[in-house]
Amino acid sequence: MKIPIEKPVLVTCALPYVNGECHIGHLRTYVPADIYVRMLRKMGYDVIFIGGSDTHGTPIVLSAEAQGITPEEVVEKYHKHFKRMFQALNVNFDYYGRTDSESNQRRTTEIVKKLIENGYVYEKETKQAFCNTCGRFLPDRYVEGKCPYCGAMARGDECDQGCGKHLEPGEIIEPKCKICGSKANFKEQEHFFFKLSSFADFLISYLDKLGGTRNARNYALEWTKKELRDWCITRALEWGVKFPGRDDLVVYVWVDAPIGYISSTEELLNYTTDGKDWRMYWKGNKATIVHFIGTDIVYHHCIFWPAMLKGAGYSLPDAVVASGMVKINGGTFSKSRGNVVWVKEFLERFHPDTLRYYLVAQSSHTKELNFSWDSFSTRVNNELVAILGNLVHRVISFAYKNFGVVPEGDIDEDVFAAIAHTKEEETRAVDEYEFKKLVDSAMKLADFGNSFFQREEPWHLIKKGDAGRERCGEIVKNVLQLIKAVCIGLEAVMPTKMEEVWSQLGMESDVHSVKLDEMMTPIKSGQPLKKPKRLFDRVEL
Ligand code: 2FM
Ligand code: ZN
Repeated sequence: MKIPIEKPVLVTCALPYVNGECHIGHLRTYVPADIYVRMLRKMGYDVIFIGGSDTHGTPIVLSAEAQGITPEEVVEKYHKHFKRMFQALNVNFDYYGRTDSESNQRRTTEIVKKLIENGYVYEKETKQAFCNTCGRFLPDRYVEGKCPYCGAMARGDECDQGCGKHLEPGEIIEPKCKICGSKANFKEQEHFFFKLSSFADFLISYLDKLGGTRNARNYALEWTKKELRDWCITRALEWGVKFPGRDDLVVYVWVDAPIGYISSTEELLNYTTDGKDWRMYWKGNKATIVHFIGTDIVYHHCIFWPAMLKGAGYSLPDAVVASGMVKINGGTFSKSRGNVVWVKEFLERFHPDTLRYYLVAQSSHTKELNFSWDSFSTRVNNELVAILGNLVHRVISFAYKNFGVVPEGDIDEDVFAAIAHTKEEETRAVDEYEFKKLVDSAMKLADFGNSFFQREEPWHLIKKGDAGRERCGEIVKNVLQLIKAVCIGLEAVMPTKMEEVWSQLGMESDVHSVKLDEMMTPIKSGQPLKKPKRLFDRVEL
């Protein structure tokens, strides 16, 4: 989707539950979203980038019980951890909030009250899973059983191993208590419901026009056309945002979590002084809203969320971009089976940019990504070392040794044509959320640079008197131009490494704020080059 350049853009990333450490499965959403934001800025858009921690719900409470600490302590520990991991990976949110903030509690209460006032909420007696052995109700992740839609093993509120559908309390078949393992039964309890069923027509026409990736839109449309059941929006838990007027109930985590996108925008704009107001993004459709999520939470972002926003009079998201899930060595992520790659440990051994590159180069954004150490080392050794690293090191070393500066000369037409083509491909890749095409296109240009240098054999020319030296300089300048163009396109993917390349080229500007159009601006002759250092190390398994 080509988004309008004249409107400000708000990009958000799904808020991780801060109930454990960050693993590479999480990064499939955050790294591409960061790349997207960097590319939009290069293309001239005015963007803010919002993230934050999801601090409520049974994922947090269960983790606290398992560790023998309080939910507050769990959140404190992992909120800091996630922030550190994002910083280490250069995922540069303009604001990273949390859903237990005072402003999110306030905004959630305001929205829920508005939904009540507009007649979209009612109270009803409903069945909830109950464990006789533990003597307690079993909300959401406290219960496991079979999905009533596809028969797969499922959690209380989502079919996480099968069709991905959200499950209402009381829907799960053959429920079992997650704490003690005994068979659970159902008991009646009073709860509040959101009239989701009355939003079916609205959702069908909204989803029909929704931008982003097709996997999100189609999945949501399919469920909306089948049947929309009213949505239970309260839980009998201590931990969460209190339902207005009820001390014994909190709102379901999927109510206050996405509202975190709004309250974080408010918090960000409270701290900045450029006169922007959060309402510009969330009231009256004056901005473009793009959500980056994983395919497992399409239902929540394309059905619950727009219905809530519509019901409370807020702006609607313009695009939902859903990434495929991550597998490890062909298997699903599992802490207990040791099938997991922790980001912290990864970063103790490898450069963050190699992971950023791998995550987008390995598979198309909407497809599953199967991580393996083999595929990681192959991508680094055969692409980053052999193509990109080789081009940069070989050419800048030759130029530095023989000229010391960017030599004189004109840029060949076919070099400009190749760069223009790459720039066009990169722009299209961003519009289509195809980040693999973005890196593939930049790497193709790097490959072209290697072939050009190899074909022209400047190392022979340099020995052939003044005329030879002059032509040699011209060739070197052309390849330096190609490196500059590759560097601009890849800054979004590998910001730290491209900063090194930019500096080796002797560029004075800040590579992170250079516009894409500069790919076509000739590199300045006479600009002093820096002594090059090798860019990437080979990965030995
Ligand atoms: O699935 C999850 O990990 C949720 N914590 C995502 C929430 S996204 C948003 F709605 F806050
Ligand atoms: Zn299912």
